[in-house]
Formats: sequence, structure tokens, C-alpha cells
Amino acid sequence: MTVYPKTSALMRRGAEFFGCEYAILCGAMSWVSERNLVAAISNAGGFGVIACGAMTPELLDAEIAGTKALTKKPFGVNLITMHPMLFELIEVCARHRVGHVVLAGGIPPKGSVEAIKAFGGKVIVFAPTIALAKKLLRSGADALVIEGMEAGGHIGPVATSVLAQEFLPELAEDYLVFVAGGIGRGDAIAAYLEMGAAGVQLGTRFACATESIAHPAFKQAFFRGNARDAVASVQVDPRLPVIPVRALKNKGTEEFTAKQREVAQLLDEGKVDMLEAQLQIEHFWAGALRRAVIDGDVENGSLMAGQSVGMVKQEEPVATIMASLMHECEAALSRR
Ligand SMILES: Cc1cc2nc3c(=O)[nH]c(=O)nc-3n(C[C@H](O)[C@H](O)[C@H](O)COP(=O)(O)O)c2cc1C
Repeated sequence: MTVYPKTSALMRRGAEFFGCEYAILCGAMSWVSERNLVAAISNAGGFGVIACGAMTPELLDAEIAGTKALTKKPFGVNLITMHPMLFELIEVCARHRVGHVVLAGGIPPKGSVEAIKAFGGKVIVFAPTIALAKKLLRSGADALVIEGMEAGGHIGPVATSVLAQEFLPELAEDYLVFVAGGIGRGDAIAAYLEMGAAGVQLGTRFACATESIAHPAFKQAFFRGNARDAVASVQVDPRLPVIPVRALKNKGTEEFTAKQREVAQLLDEGKVDMLEAQLQIEHFWAGALRRAVIDGDVENGSLMAGQSVGMVKQEEPVATIMASLMHECEAALSRR
């Protein structure tokens, strides 16, 4: 077994928290982070997370059971806070004694953190500001992910490098903070660990692993894509605040603009309220991502990808990617 003494020392808190060897999470990716990729990540020493996305409780139940059949290692579940059946999904996690639940997509609704803690699960949250991060961590959340705008999928407005400089000095000593967005090599992992991060979360780098069920055409688009091709969607109507999504440019990007106009008009006509409008936007993304990941429609589907896509060159097994990241991190720390 290869040992990475300097990296492991800096990852110790994060690895103990997740019960894994390396404090490297594969961030949940809707349609991509299902049993095969999740189990492969955990089996390779990292921490895999199932993307629940828009799944029903029954589907999540089957996915957790399927993942358990493929790995004996711990893994987590990512739930979207906006999901109308959030509490039923938490119950499914409780029945399976899922050790770690990530609450993504917004501020956790009242009672959700408590419901997870009640069955002994650890709660991981996202927070766009330090004040909100502190509030969530003081009121029960066990760990925080800070995610910069370089990331793939739904993004905030601030770069990872800036978030890291703002959040880590303030929070990393007392709390577990994981850094996500734009990480493609171990050198960057080394830098964030040295700044106090307990570990890191990557998505784009793992999306095209051999074990990922993403369609070959989706993977090819990633291998061809450069950082500059992974662009953030634009908001076309100020009345409809949409969370930007970073994806490889294609026809689907334009379809999103049309979808926004359509939903904004429904809002104007009073046919939907703001919550329903936002749900329609999220359903659009879920459907568009499915078309690209599962059906391989890389023209019209959504190719959600982070700027690190330029560092994804070929299909490799998860264990190989994990070993490269750890090796690069250790080499960077050894050069100091
Ligand atoms: C294809 C794709 C789908 C994603 N879907 C989700 C999701 O369903 N829930 C979530 O919390 N994050 C989602 N993300 C974000 C990842 O979990 C992760 O935080 C992000 O990819 C990290 O940044 P990186 O892409 O620069 O590595 C997605 C990212 C990608 C690339």
C-alpha cells in the first residue's frame, strides 16, 4: 500500500470524520453519482456521495441498498433542500443508517438538521457567507463545504480561492471545512489543506471515471472540453432569480434562455408563484442533465462541468485518479 504521510497528516481530521482513508469527497452529481461511482470512490479510499436529486423515496431506498451491495465502506447521501419530500428522504436515510447526509441547494429547512442528527447521522451543509456558516455549525451541522464558482453544476458568485481565504482562517480551527470547486490536481489539494481545510470535494474530475455510468458521448465531450468552454448560465429576467449553472457550451445552453423566458411569462401572468417557477427551472436542469448523462444527447442536454474539465483527458479507473491526486498532493507538500 502506498503511504502519503504528509497528506495523511493534514487530512486526518477529515478522514476520521468520514471514516475513510483519504479526505477526498466525490461531490454528488445528479444522474452520475449513483451506486457504481459512489461505491468505486469509497472502495478507493475516498468518500462517495449518492446524488438523490429529484429521486422519490422509493428510488433513493433502492439506490442506497444497491450501493451497500457494492461496498462495505462508508458513503453519504446528498439531498436537495428544495425537494418536496425532503423529510421522507431523511427517513429513508435513517432506515439505512446512512452515516453522513449532505444538505445542498439552500438553507436547510427547520427540523431537517435535527431529523438527521436524531438517527445519529452527521450533517454537512453549504453556506455562502461566514455568518450563515457559523449559524449552521453552531446549531448542529457537523461540517461545511465551501464551493467556488469554478465548480460544475449550480454555483455561487465567488471563486474558490477567495472563499478559502475568507472562510478558512475564521473557521478551520474549530470546525471541519471542505473546499470544492476547480480542483483538478493534487497540488491544489495541498494548498487548501495547508490553509486549514479538513479535506476537499471534487466532481468534474471523477465524472468520467471508468466506473461512471455517464454515456460515452458525455465523457467524450468532457475529454474535448477546455476550461473556457465550461460557462455559467446567465439570468435573462431580473424578476426570476435563477441560480447559475456551469456547463459546457452547447445548444442546451440556449434552450435554458428560452425556458427562463417561458417561466418568467408564467410568473407575469400569475399562473405560477415564485417557488413553483424555481421548481420548474430545477426540473428543466434535471431533465436536461439526464438527456446528456444517460441518453448521450450532448447537443441539447446539459453538460454540467466545472472549469477543471480541461484537466480531464481520458477515462481512468477511480483508483487511478485517486492515486494521482494523492501522489501529486504528497509531492507538492514534500517540495515545500
Ligand atoms: C454533472 C454535475 C452534476 C452535479 N450535480 C450536483 C447535485 O445534484 N447536487 C449537488 O449538491 N452538487 C452537484 N454538483 C456539484 C458537485 O457535487 C461538486 O461540488 C462540484 O462538481 C465540485 O466542483 P468541480 O466540478 O470543480 O470539481 C454537480 C456537478 C456536476 C459536474
